[in-house]
Amino acid sequence: MEETFKTLPKHTLNWSKGKLTFYKYEGFWSIKKYLEEVILAQQSFKARPTDVLLCSCPKTGTTWLKALAFAIVTRDKFNESTTPLLTTLPHDCLPILEKTLDRIEDNSCFPLMSTHIPYTSLPESVLSSNCKIVYIYRNVKDVIVSQEISKLAIEDAPFEEAFDEFCQGVSFYGPYWDHILGYWKASLERPDTILFLKYEDLKMDPVSNVKRLAEFIGYPFSIQETNAGVVEKIIQLCSFENLSKLEVNKSENLPAKDFVVENQFFFFRKAKDGDWENYFTDDMKEKVDKLIDQELSSTGLVL
Ligand code: A3P
Repeated sequence: MEETFKTLPKHTLNWSKGKLTFYKYEGFWSIKKYLEEVILAQQSFKARPTDVLLCSCPKTGTTWLKALAFAIVTRDKFNESTTPLLTTLPHDCLPILEKTLDRIEDNSCFPLMSTHIPYTSLPESVLSSNCKIVYIYRNVKDVIVSQEISKLAIEDAPFEEAFDEFCQGVSFYGPYWDHILGYWKASLERPDTILFLKYEDLKMDPVSNVKRLAEFIGYPFSIQETNAGVVEKIIQLCSFENLSKLEVNKSENLPAKDFVVENQFFFFRKAKDGDWENYFTDDMKEKVDKLIDQELSSTGLVL
């Protein structure tokens, strides 16, 4: 493993005072600890055809997607007052692929698992098992703010520097546009196994998108459930307003050991579309628009 890292391109984030060094592995940047996990997962993770992977780049709505999918899958077991989501961080409600290498002991039929691994670096067994993948993405400008503000808060560093690094592709599992592109191309090749969800669409029309999600992962809502308002109850349970006020999701209760950067806004910050306008100059806006046009216009995705 050490030998592998010696050969990888390396970049220490300008503003981090030498604290955060990213390596580029198979075309994507991340820190050593996370990339070691990716490499181990590539060597030994065994996907099952019944798995459902929730995939994303950080800060694109992962926490929300995890909460929704968990609430959908476990709705026969728990109701709004008994669900573990009231007492457990959504990230701890389901396993992370890179941290679930030994599945021999695991006889559970719980299908959900999450990962930030780019499509082209997923363990081979994910592709050969044909398991389902749900991919969430979000407006790039809001992702930049969400990701960089979380990191910068620890160092009080200038946003401009972090912005430039993000635009150079150096961000967690970045370049962000390549992360999207990998899953997007795969979704065209294997439409039955990959569902694309957009954070802003989920916000704008939660009912139909949550129904789509439930159906895709094999837990469709029955007519009786729909009539009884089960979809709306799940949306309410997983709403930012509800989850962010729970004790377990408050900053001081986060399991800091697992995260490189901790601060009070890490998983629950503002959840506001267009917050980038509070941070971007006109030049920044133009630069990102150009970049996304250049990198993603062929997909037709609106970011
Ligand atoms: P902001 O930083 O813009 O507020 P991730 O979960 O991938 O790390 O993404 C975090 C972003 O999703 C943060 O965005 C966070 O506030 C927002 N978020 C977290 N929970 C949410 C929810 N239940 N509904 C909508 N947005 C949510």
